[in-house]
Amino acid sequence: MTTTTTTTLEQHLAAQHASGAISATLQSVIETTASACQRISRLVAQGALGGVLGSAGSENVQGEAQKKLDLIANDALMAAHQGGAVAALASEEMDTICPIPGAEAAQWLLLFDPLDGSSNIDVNVSIGTIFSVLPRTASGAVREAEFLQPGRRQAAAGYCIYGPQTMLALTTGGGVQLFTLDPASGTFLLTHSSLRVPDETQEFAINMSNSRHWAAPMRRYITECLLGADGGRGKNFNMRWIASMVADVHRVLLRGGIFMYPWDKREPKRPGKLRLMYEANPMSWLIEQAGGAATNGKQAILDIQPAALHERVAVMLGSKNEVQRVTRYHSEEN
Ligand code: AHG
Ligand code: MN
Ligand code: MN
Repeated sequence: MTTTTTTTLEQHLAAQHASGAISATLQSVIETTASACQRISRLVAQGALGGVLGSAGSENVQGEAQKKLDLIANDALMAAHQGGAVAALASEEMDTICPIPGAEAAQWLLLFDPLDGSSNIDVNVSIGTIFSVLPRTASGAVREAEFLQPGRRQAAAGYCIYGPQTMLALTTGGGVQLFTLDPASGTFLLTHSSLRVPDETQEFAINMSNSRHWAAPMRRYITECLLGADGGRGKNFNMRWIASMVADVHRVLLRGGIFMYPWDKREPKRPGKLRLMYEANPMSWLIEQAGGAATNGKQAILDIQPAALHERVAVMLGSKNEVQRVTRYHSEEN
């Protein structure tokens, strides 16, 4: 729902804290993350003028070429969280977890994809930052194993999209709120509250160029969508693929749809392309909190017990009836 309030992100979080929904330290983690995103937003907006475009000439632990902005965004988030309410960080762009010096007593673990949609950076298409907050489960020095909690355990999750507007989507378990950055005041203002993903949709998002590599249930589902009103579905489908998960999920949150990045046989041992802990989990919680569904074709993404920090997963999320259908096709195959 679009609103015309002038509630700031800080006021919204303060009200949530006052009602007992979130602790003061979680409030601080979210505010600090949002301010780092504002900084990233300003750098993104400068583009070539700020020298932030192009390749960094390095690779991350997953063997992907890093862009300058992947590292700049990672540094901005790292710097913002020094000496705060986070005990340790994990990022797509860092091989291992990063405990914050002197913050062993802090209660929160933060994971992020600092810059999502890297292939779109240099062509001025929407990109974003995705984050997930987990509670500490032990005391003392943080070990990587402490991060390996199912998405159901998240205390906060969200993303910031750097598009025509910079917007922050957030959930702490009480629905999804969307804030728009007011460039004049430099504050995030609540513009959309209690987002609902419609159960029905006629729009799908998938990288069709991989279709010959998909498993049979995936091919069945998309073939039926493409047949539209001439096939068994009795309705026509439209397709969108931005290749920034943040932007594709943002559209699904606002008007429905189904977003998929399935397993494919190019790398059969890899469950999918997207990363469970800092891409799929936060996005799945946002979608579930807005009334949608998110699975890997077999089970709810939020119920998956992670085995590794950079673990990958197949993703099918969005409007409930379509996600349930494609998940059923996968179970019928079994
Ligand atoms: P990242 O830029 O963080 O590596 O993530 C890119 C992801 C995701 O944003 C998007 O949905 C997908 O990769 C696009 O993949 P293809 O280029 O294979 O379509
Ligand atoms: Mn990403
Ligand atoms: Mn990334």
